[in-house]
Amino acid sequence: MSDADAAAMEASLIAAADAGIDIRHSLFERFFAAYPARRASFISVDAASRRMTDETLQMMFGLAQGEGWVWPLVAELVFTHRNYGALPIAKYDAFIDMTVEELGLAAGPAWTAACASAWQHNADVLKAMIRRARAEWASAMPAGAPQIA
Ligand code: HEM
Repeated sequence: MSDADAAAMEASLIAAADAGIDIRHSLFERFFAAYPARRASFISVDAASRRMTDETLQMMFGLAQGEGWVWPLVAELVFTHRNYGALPIAKYDAFIDMTVEELGLAAGPAWTAACASAWQHNADVLKAMIRRARAEWASAMPAGAPQIA
């Protein structure tokens, strides 16, 4: 967590917004191109793509700002996603990486090396937090927990 990281990250979010680019469209096209079988688990791609994209960005930005609400939100996310079938950890990793990459494409010159590395660092922290949430659910509630791997 650092003020400089959060500032660089915010600048890229503003740049993408100023460019009028809603990254959820290219992000979900890319995600479904990589995992075509997953499309069927979405009842409304329009509704879910807004929330999944927003919350993924918010979690990484919140981590950069040292926000305490990120952990409970991640724990809840992992638990509610039990409803969508077996969800290997690699798919979470891929979704997070694709979110950062699509933001990079949309942010133009605001995507400096410092900005890219701030997003990458907080992406890695988020991935680790998702792993921890899966492990903690498995230990607290073995029968109903989301899978770990
Ligand atoms: C950091 C990563 C992710 C975040 C923040 C996130 C967030 C969300 C949110 C907020 C919703 C809407 C309501 C709910 O909580 O049930 C949702 C729905 C959903 N998510 Fe995710 N998600 C993530 C990763 C994934 C991954 C990797 C998949 C794998 C395919 C996935 C599949 C789904 C599905 C199938 C729905 C339901 C959509 C529908 O009913 O139309 N999510 N997600």
